[in-house]
Amino acid sequence: MSRWLLTGGAGYIGSHVARDLLTSGREVVVLDDLSSGIRERVPGDAELVVASVLDTEAVRRALEGVTGVVHLAAKKAVGESVEMPLMYYRENVGGVTSLLQAMDDVGTPCMVYSSSAAVYGEPPWSPISEDSPLAPLSPYGETKVIGEWMVRDVAAARELSWVALRYFNVAGAGSPDLGDPSVNNLIPMVFRALDQGEAPQIFGTDYPTPDGSCIRDYIHVSDLSAAHVAAADLVERELVGVALNVGTGVGSSVAEVMDAVSSVVGRDVGAVAVGRRAGDPPELVAQVERAQEMLGWSAQRGLADMVESAYAARR
Ligand code: UD1
Repeated sequence: MSRWLLTGGAGYIGSHVARDLLTSGREVVVLDDLSSGIRERVPGDAELVVASVLDTEAVRRALEGVTGVVHLAAKKAVGESVEMPLMYYRENVGGVTSLLQAMDDVGTPCMVYSSSAAVYGEPPWSPISEDSPLAPLSPYGETKVIGEWMVRDVAAARELSWVALRYFNVAGAGSPDLGDPSVNNLIPMVFRALDQGEAPQIFGTDYPTPDGSCIRDYIHVSDLSAAHVAAADLVERELVGVALNVGTGVGSSVAEVMDAVSSVVGRDVGAVAVGRRAGDPPELVAQVERAQEMLGWSAQRGLADMVESAYAARR
């Protein structure tokens, strides 16, 4: 039985990954500073270390006997990163630096790094492959690119097997107690509007897409979580270094998401079109073949599952 360190394991995505790593037969140590993570979401079978990943000494201690690290702990709000770039560099780049230092000191051989489709910026084509140019448009996306490069560079200098997972638009919940508590993203924002008796908003209907609204690749958090376990299996089995898109390969427009929500709540949500939000690419959909080949993994759930489970888990 191998032992894994999961940073950010008390968060929305991390609480799913913690459960799936345990189910895969691994021991799990969660390291989380609980700045946005929720203590109660850490499964009882996992060990919890309350510490920041910036605390290299605490990370080093937590790495005792650990085969691999799934590194999720990071700041992830695009707009906030534009307002507070230094905080993003400190937390995200500083976090990877501290973690890689501790892993280097202890000799930890495996890593799964949480990256983002934000590394592509406004992609020149869609669906987008992992070999497309990296051109992030926000400090958040920049810190994710830098993190990938740092992991790659350390792996070039010593033996480290790694996978970077570039998440597309994560949604849904694996169970009703594990919903996304933030309201930064489309589906939570639609439910919040409905709860407040307001009309959900479509940010732009004049994009060059079939219905004029932006297209994204929404992926169920349970599928995303399964990709982490498959990546952990791969890095334990072989010496690899690769970045993989984690999406479904299927795009949905904002208007289609609104329709899916209307079906789930049983009435037309009455979405209204408002102006574009600055910095939104018209279309961002993953090419998923490389993840299928390397991980033997593919997404199983569709938009209806995501909206239904998010609705069941809404606060
Ligand atoms: C999200 C994440 C980003 C991640 C990226 C990966 C945030 C804020 N953004 O970006 O970190 O790297 O996925 O692909 O966490 N929209 C509306 N009305 C709303 C809210 C959103 O029309 O009330 C639209 C947006 O304009 C966008 C789409 O819905 O076209 C999805 O928006 P959002 O959930 O914020 O995600 P992204 O901006 O794609």
